[in-house]
Amino acid sequence: MTAHSSVRAFQPTPVSTEVIERCVGAAQMASTSSWIQAYSLLQVHDAAERETLAELCGGQAQVHTAGAFFVVLADSRRHLLLAESAGCDHVQNLEGFLVSVVDASLFAQSLALAFESEGLGICFIGGLRNQLADVDRLLELPRGAWPLFGLCVGTPEEQPEGRPRLPLSAVLHHDRYASDGEVSAATEAFDGVASAHYAERGIEGRNWSGGMARRFMAPLREELAAYYTSKGARLC
Ligand SMILES: Cc1cc2nc3c(=O)[nH]c(=O)nc-3n(C[C@H](O)[C@H](O)[C@H](O)COP(=O)(O)O)c2cc1C
Repeated sequence: MTAHSSVRAFQPTPVSTEVIERCVGAAQMASTSSWIQAYSLLQVHDAAERETLAELCGGQAQVHTAGAFFVVLADSRRHLLLAESAGCDHVQNLEGFLVSVVDASLFAQSLALAFESEGLGICFIGGLRNQLADVDRLLELPRGAWPLFGLCVGTPEEQPEGRPRLPLSAVLHHDRYASDGEVSAATEAFDGVASAHYAERGIEGRNWSGGMARRFMAPLREELAAYYTSKGARLC
């Protein structure tokens, strides 16, 4: 786990069905809220579709160059169908949406670790949410199958050095959440580490907190609520 770093350059070797099925089977053993298993994985095989997806994800070449590309779905579709055939109402609300997002994310991270343990490289693709309605149209997703992010997997063509993480003290709290002063001190300490990391890559004068402050200056992907709602999610 500590050897992880995201890979964005892949050899053109496909990932075998055997490896994919072994890793997906292992990842399915991730804990799941009340055994709900509210996730699915959609592998996109078609080269032309993957090229279109790469563009929809913001021109991320790895979406079509990786050995395999998957879309991670928060999935209440099967629960919707089983309720229908049992003649029950299927009532969605924010709790149901969150449960499926948490389930799908736990599954996805377990899946990433399983692939990495096979010697493969991975990169999650949040860029999938850039133009989600177009992704939805391309993949003809049914109501209740909610795309969250993509996952590129393949034989690495690069071995990027790991990105440092916040100090443990910033993340691990004891009994009560840390004071604002402690939170800020940990962030400042990390800025030194992050600046050095950037400088090693030839980027001078950049730190972590500046980047994060800029990132949240304006709302991101504001059309998501409308999209997920249109596909049967209730976000309240
Ligand atoms: C949900 C999620 C979405 C991500 N989306 C992208 C993406 O669209 N493109 C990309 O190159 N990396 C993406 N990443 C990778 C992160 O940028 C990366 O994990 C982070 O910068 C830390 O670097 P590391 O994974 O190499 O340690 C994503 C990661 C996560 C967890």
